[in-house]
Amino acid sequence: MLALITGGTNGIGYCMADELLKRGYDVFLVSRKEGKTQELIKRYPDRKVSFSSYDLIDEKECYRLLDDTENLNMDVFINNAGYGDIGKLTDTSLEKEVNMVKLNDIASLILVKTFLKRFIIKNSGRILMTCSAASFGPAPYMTVYYSTKSFCYWLAHGYYRELKDRKSKVTISALCPSPVKTDFEKEANCKFKIGTLEPEKVGKAAIKGLLKGKLEIVPGFKIKLAHLFSHLVPKKFISKVLNKSAEIG
Ligand SMILES: NC(=O)c1ccc[n+]([C@@H]2O[C@H](COP(=O)([O-])OP(=O)(O)OC[C@H]3O[C@@H](n4cnc5c(N)ncnc54)[C@H](OP(=O)(O)O)[C@@H]3O)[C@@H](O)[C@H]2O)c1
Repeated sequence: MLALITGGTNGIGYCMADELLKRGYDVFLVSRKEGKTQELIKRYPDRKVSFSSYDLIDEKECYRLLDDTENLNMDVFINNAGYGDIGKLTDTSLEKEVNMVKLNDIASLILVKTFLKRFIIKNSGRILMTCSAASFGPAPYMTVYYSTKSFCYWLAHGYYRELKDRKSKVTISALCPSPVKTDFEKEANCKFKIGTLEPEKVGKAAIKGLLKGKLEIVPGFKIKLAHLFSHLVPKKFISKVLNKSAEIG
């Protein structure tokens, strides 16, 4: 059994790779740098752990990854690489935001759609998209990041229904964690003001949900409740509450 994980060399992706290795999968990790790949190689000497470098901000790199994996019999595809940014709209870098859209959304569309088509042909395979609790509503000062995650969330929901209509055995899941203790804060230049989850806990919940074919995976009771609540109140109220979830830092 083989799983491809983008952003599998660090943070949540690394923990999902670890969980899959525990369950007997071989893993193919994709990111720009090798990150913690060697740790997995040492911990799982009987499994195959491979790494290849691709910068998925670049569309051409996404197509190169697709070409390179065309003849591999993949069972699981995890679309996880992504980053965020915080700041006033007058201060944040437009270039960083455009690249965020390219990685979080354009690369996600190219890769997820192509793997879905591959999996539909063989009528097997599981896909997980790392969305976020940020998919549930708008937030000031992280507006672009939240918008990119909503795109992924609705993509997963729409494709889920298409798969059901086809009576396909292929599944797609949307992982929606609240803040997680990873390098995300450093990259996004933010400090979370609400409690953070351990990436190991998120990785475990993610793989459990993925292997069950669950559409939405929302780790943690508090955020499940907040998600339910978010359906009942105006979006203007949600953006006011989310204003307090992180600060520039
Ligand atoms: N941490 C949170 O609070 C949180 C909450 C909800 C959702 N998420 C989502 O979870 C996902 C993983 O984030 P994380 O928190 O685990 O952060 P992380 O520790 O910074 O991991 C990000 C991973 O993505 C890879 N990556 C970044 N840019 C890339 C690029 N251009 N091409 C290929 N790979 C790239 C990184 O490796 P390289 O730098 O070597 O490329 C790394 O392996 C993201 O989609 C994020 O939006 C995070």
